[in-house]
Amino acid sequence: MQHTDSSKKKQLRYVTFISLIAAIGGFLFGYDTAVISGAIGFIEDRFVLSSAMVGWVVSSLIIGCIVGAASSGFISDKLGRKSALIISGVLFTAGSAASALPETVTGLVLARMFGGLGVGMASTLAPLYIAEIAPAKYRGRLVSLYQLAVVTAIFVTFFIDSSIASLGDTAWDIETGWRWMFAVGVIPGILFIIFLLFIPESPRWLQKQGKSDRALATLQRLNGKEEAKFELKEIRLTLKEENTKMSQLFKPGLRLALLIGVILAILQQVTGINAVMYYAPEIFKATGAGTDAALVQTVMIGLINFIFTILALWLIDKMGRKALLLIGSTCMAVCLVFVGFAFHSGHTEGPWVLVFLLLYVASFAISLGPVVWVVISEIFPNRVRARATAIASMALWAADYLVSQAFPMMLDSIGPATTFWVFAVMSVFTFFFTWKTVPETKGKTLEEIDQLWSSKA
Ligand code: GLC
Repeated sequence: MQHTDSSKKKQLRYVTFISLIAAIGGFLFGYDTAVISGAIGFIEDRFVLSSAMVGWVVSSLIIGCIVGAASSGFISDKLGRKSALIISGVLFTAGSAASALPETVTGLVLARMFGGLGVGMASTLAPLYIAEIAPAKYRGRLVSLYQLAVVTAIFVTFFIDSSIASLGDTAWDIETGWRWMFAVGVIPGILFIIFLLFIPESPRWLQKQGKSDRALATLQRLNGKEEAKFELKEIRLTLKEENTKMSQLFKPGLRLALLIGVILAILQQVTGINAVMYYAPEIFKATGAGTDAALVQTVMIGLINFIFTILALWLIDKMGRKALLLIGSTCMAVCLVFVGFAFHSGHTEGPWVLVFLLLYVASFAISLGPVVWVVISEIFPNRVRARATAIASMALWAADYLVSQAFPMMLDSIGPATTFWVFAVMSVFTFFFTWKTVPETKGKTLEEIDQLWSSKA
């Protein structure tokens, strides 16, 4: 008994260790998302940019992400999850280095798009890989490590940006400082590539390639001997209906899975999180806060996002995905309604906008933030998982692009109150959509989830 306990612990340590390595993919994502907010002001001065060009420099990364996410399914089916993750690390690292060098704004836009390919690929493959190696009981928590890495990076990058900016005077920042902000991304990029060399290939991918021996050996390290045999049998069964054509995804059963994955991915974005993440200082300035106060409040947003993501890690395999989505979307809707009212009634000087935005971010962090990444990495069957997850993640990035482009225009045309109410309506929709369609996948093996769709077909 004692022996089994200690070997179980050893397995869990091993699984956590390799999940942490894959989760660095999320760190790259968070880093690239956040680095631009510290750099953009200097870039604007360096290249004398119009506001349309500023928009381009910021969003060029997301365009790369959409393409990277879209191609990740195909690449990781062909070359394996591990090799595809390494490629994403190389693209990211090269993109970070290239973003530090340009003498023209076109060069910078191209470099960011290139880096975005890596971020988009990693954003799909890191959760997917973790879902494929994790034991069912801890899968939610382990995949959420990815989101924890995203929010850690968003938070840490803020300090990296401001420490670099403080190294020189404004002239130095405009000529050189922003280059260092991008260049620092090379460090997590290279570490990611090196650590990836130590992780095993996904047993589910190995079995799909007919490499049963290697699949079994990996499963044994991950889950123990007995469990491994049983799991391999289950994986084989799900792979038996070997119809891996894309058209499979549009048949009844799987069609529903695809719809849930894509719509949840879009909802994660159109409920407004990145309007707050990307534009927080602007929002706070609009409430009358000075530049310094706006920055402090932005740091608070990052910290709350981090703390509540940790809470989600703890809750996701206990309460389940669905409960967290329902609670989170309700609280998000309520907070957004209040933020809207504060702007509507002109009561923005007090702490209310800050308080409700913090509560909104906390609610997102325990629900849509991690849960959507978990759900899209686990609801699809083995034979089509990579491509289906890629479609959902591409939809997520496309929605991210739309919201980040639309937000400033919405503020100008319909005003902040209505803008936040639009996000509130989307949160209410998320509640009903989840309630009616999302199945609870807590504690189920990927193969049991697969069965769920066959029974619905
Ligand atoms: C999720 C979202 C991402 C957002 C982040 C904020 O990872 O996918 O777009 O920036 O959460 O915590």
